[in-house]
Amino acid sequence: MGDKRKTGTGSQGGTLGEEIAENLAESDMGRDASGAAETGTRTKEEDSEAAGAGRENRSPAALGGTGFREEYEFPEALFGEVPASREEERCLRLIARLARGERLTEEEFFAVLSVRSRKTASLLFRTARRVREQFYGKRVFIRGLIEFTNYCRNDCYYCGIRRSNREADRYRLTQEEILSCCEEGFRLGFRTFVLQGGEDGGYGREKEAGREAARDRGKETGRETAAFYKSDLALAETVRAIKSRFPGCAVTLSAGERPREIYELWFDAGADRYLLRHETADEEHYRRLHPSRMSGSYRKECLKDLKEIGFQTGAGMMIGSPGQTERLLARDLIFLRELKPEMVGIGPFIPHHATPFAGERPGSLKLTLYVLGLVRLLLPKVLLPATTALGTIVPGGRELGLLCGANVVMPNLSPASVREKYLLYDNKLSTGREAAEGLMKLRRSVENIGYEIVAERGDWAGFPKRRDRPNGMRPLL
Ligand code: 5AD
Repeated sequence: MGDKRKTGTGSQGGTLGEEIAENLAESDMGRDASGAAETGTRTKEEDSEAAGAGRENRSPAALGGTGFREEYEFPEALFGEVPASREEERCLRLIARLARGERLTEEEFFAVLSVRSRKTASLLFRTARRVREQFYGKRVFIRGLIEFTNYCRNDCYYCGIRRSNREADRYRLTQEEILSCCEEGFRLGFRTFVLQGGEDGGYGREKEAGREAARDRGKETGRETAAFYKSDLALAETVRAIKSRFPGCAVTLSAGERPREIYELWFDAGADRYLLRHETADEEHYRRLHPSRMSGSYRKECLKDLKEIGFQTGAGMMIGSPGQTERLLARDLIFLRELKPEMVGIGPFIPHHATPFAGERPGSLKLTLYVLGLVRLLLPKVLLPATTALGTIVPGGRELGLLCGANVVMPNLSPASVREKYLLYDNKLSTGREAAEGLMKLRRSVENIGYEIVAERGDWAGFPKRRDRPNGMRPLL
């Protein structure tokens, strides 16, 4: 099982601890390694982990303070041992029940989330690794992330590309630029391309260019619907172009909330998957994170539409977003169990300096890992990325995620010139192993923990093979 991880010795590179040390030594990330602060849901012990992390000295010798030492082979080793207690006993039983496919109540999920000890983490992560290996073996799927526009009509309080952030340097890629990203990605071994962008009503209008497109950008005007329709058609066109050029590849879209007909249009153009995080299943918490024109119930409707249409659908949430509690996370887990998404995106919340949440605390590394493990047990076949945010909050974070049940990574394929403009949060990684060109490095670090990056589409394990749609494209008739 996942226990045979230390394949790398000598020139291969060493343990995860060494990897992290190497990482810390070579990058002066200008960021606090573990996010530096605490969330409301952090434990005391996590506080000290965070307090020691990311201070001035980032040399390997200073590693003791990050909470990572060489003996930290497995993420469970990040969790402290606590004196045995009835609560801990109960949690172990609940984790075992979850692994057997039993339905836990909100109360029980709450209990599981509240006790996070070495023992519970060991059971959770070991079982999560076993379950992921049952369906996906040691394979890690890669997705080439193409951030095709950072215009957005929304104003989410946490997000760096929110509409009212005047600091954001806006861009959108043309179809040709997107296709050349795919070209490069295909060469590197990517067989899934993820087109992610803000809710932009101006995509594809660069050619008409001119002032009209510029005037409407990101604005909510009477012309919005028409503008979006054009933009949506242009995106469908781009999907078609990608699918005909790379027929063996999957296309994932992540372009926000759209009417069902538009999702259908994109599906018919050949898009295979769609990512739309629910952010929080609780309506009141949703309102704490978003302006009033957005609603959690509409977001959930979109997700239901996407599933019904036939997309492999992704939901998900940030960990440690302002106002989030373990109680709310328990509700998220129940929501995920009901929706049964094929993919779940989970990463720590990281503040962005030009948003209303600039002064908020980032999410906890350990809680993020814990929720990853729980989601793997809850939805055994799920496609679960070790996210960029996880890699940003701590060096080696994505590798830790893979050891907690994650089985996907999404390196950045966007043109280098725009990468730094797609800043959802501060210090977002876009170079090194995070970048598609850093694939060799990523491959090595994944091998060092006993897994293997593969050049496959990486569909959901239970996804029906559709005869009428061999390339994911429906006949036009
Ligand atoms: N920190 C972490 N994740 C963020 N996202 C947006 N802003 C942040 C942030 N500040 C996530 C959201 C969104 C996804 C594209 O990125 O969950 O759905």
